[in-house]
Amino acid sequence: MFHEIRMRRLRANENLRRLVRETHLSIDNLMYPIFVVPGTHIRREVPSMPGIYQFSVDQVIREVQEAAEFKIPGILLFGQPEHKDANGGESYADNGVVQQAIRAIKSQLLHVVVATDVCLCAYTTHGHCGIVDKNQVLNDVTLEVLSKIALSHARAGADMVAPSDMMDGRVAHLRATLDENGFSNIPIMAYSAKFASQFYGPFRDVQNSAPQFGDRKSYQLDPANQREALREVELDIQEGADIVMVKPALAYLDIIARTRELTDLPIAAYSVSGEYSMIKAAAEKGWIDGEKTMMESLQAMKRAGADILITYFAKEAAKLLRE
Ligand code: PBG
Repeated sequence: MFHEIRMRRLRANENLRRLVRETHLSIDNLMYPIFVVPGTHIRREVPSMPGIYQFSVDQVIREVQEAAEFKIPGILLFGQPEHKDANGGESYADNGVVQQAIRAIKSQLLHVVVATDVCLCAYTTHGHCGIVDKNQVLNDVTLEVLSKIALSHARAGADMVAPSDMMDGRVAHLRATLDENGFSNIPIMAYSAKFASQFYGPFRDVQNSAPQFGDRKSYQLDPANQREALREVELDIQEGADIVMVKPALAYLDIIARTRELTDLPIAAYSVSGEYSMIKAAAEKGWIDGEKTMMESLQAMKRAGADILITYFAKEAAKLLRE
């Protein structure tokens, strides 16, 4: 008789599988990105992201309320200006839509963590994530503006800021600015390992933020590079990041797993617009089961080591997880 190892013994029924399950998805893991736009009475569905909307400030409250009712613990706000300009001046305006939305949400005493995306690409005419001179994205000049944005969000009442620009030194710069201005308690969730990815396609339609010349490869990571991504994560930790992020998520599970080995900081995985749209599109065609594929994908990100799952599926996943 050979000594047989039968892996299937513990897979025999659902209760056995429950007992040995290693990864558990929870509503506690979810963070929901929300798009705010100028105007009133706007609740516009994004064609390439069915189920996802752009909201004017007056409409966004209802959406945040709904997220809070689902017990989703956090939201991530993205804004757009009335008018784009070369330097993205509206990004730090006191009456910008993000700043207004934060105040509106806070005045309603909605119990969610309000995080904000700190970047310039939606605010600049050229669509780059920084200040541009002679077709070059300037690093250190951009830091000043990013700090102004983060500060304006903090002043409006944001609970957390999330720089997504990939300039060098932005975490340290933001930390110093926040601290000097009495916001030493506001955490920074750094988009640390953010890749120059095709999966951002639908997002750039929503935000009308595609670069008007060139691409983002001079500041976002090369999708071919794992070690460089880990250096980015290390640097952001040294600079004072409270949470490090890997983005996109599904195609970068190796980066999440390696980051998990590198640090005990919380890790956020941003499952980006293209990941959402692919599942939605295939499900619409009847080629996959949308809900099951969504849950499997989220579980994979968690298994890889992520704590926070930033996903456009947050409400749908929360609905399933509370049942
Ligand atoms: C801004 C930013 C982007 C995303 C989040 N913040 C786009 C980009 O870098 O072009 C992408 C999010 C998504 O695709 O869901 N820099």
